Amino acid sequence: MDTVEISAADQHQFVWLGSGDPEVEKGIASNQYAIIDAGEAMLLDPGGYHCFERVFTNVTRLVKPEKITRALLSHQDPDVVASIISWLEVQPRMKLYLSALWDRFLPHFALPVSPDVVAVPDEGSTITLSSGAVVHLIPAHGLHSPGNFVLYDERARILFSGDLGAALMPPGEWKLFVEDFAAHTQYMDGFHRRFLGSTKALRAFLKRIEGLPIDLVCPQHGSIFRGADVQRFFAWLGTLEVGFDYRSWGDGA
Ligand SMILES: [Fe+2]
Ligand SMILES: [Fe+2]
Repeated sequence: MDTVEISAADQHQFVWLGSGDPEVEKGIASNQYAIIDAGEAMLLDPGGYHCFERVFTNVTRLVKPEKITRALLSHQDPDVVASIISWLEVQPRMKLYLSALWDRFLPHFALPVSPDVVAVPDEGSTITLSSGAVVHLIPAHGLHSPGNFVLYDERARILFSGDLGAALMPPGEWKLFVEDFAAHTQYMDGFHRRFLGSTKALRAFLKRIEGLPIDLVCPQHGSIFRGADVQRFFAWLGTLEVGFDYRSWGDGA
């Protein structure tokens, strides 16, 4: 699959750019998405070095390179950020949104230009896109990174959840949408318990997003949650003990 339109509203599309399929991706398979709003693209976690060619090919079927004007880097990991070197070569004016904790680490990528960085404060922020649609950067610190944001697209009613909802599947098992939630939890369980920092942070996040009208949850890894699976996913998160609340790492237990 190349691109899939996940949602389309007036002048506003939410598009999957491939590919969470472990048979396709080097390293940890990851999904990339873009919001195409009034002819401009905002990339959501543009991805690692090896996926640049695919994501670039797919997004430029929809907009010209100079219309890729924004990218969210939800946190600092290489599967989120490493392709940014190539992106800035084709679109040096792209605005990068990332946690104020992480913007000082960008020089370590030896970027080809001095990028236009929006250092997002801990409390998050709201971005007004070209059509007037707004997206919210919602704090999800400790889930898993200490400076970490998810993005809520108000018009599309979609939560881009970054690594929250990540599922690591064996080859052959990947699907774009979750089809059997109960069976799907086996692919999420290990990652969430080990990587998420604290149960307290997780509960606070769930409280923060309570009541938001969310039709779809789109994670950076694994499959998209839709319909009743959205609330099933949040309920499942609410049952987890994670990080050091789950167990003390390194004690051999
Ligand atoms: Fe990560
Ligand atoms: Fe990730």
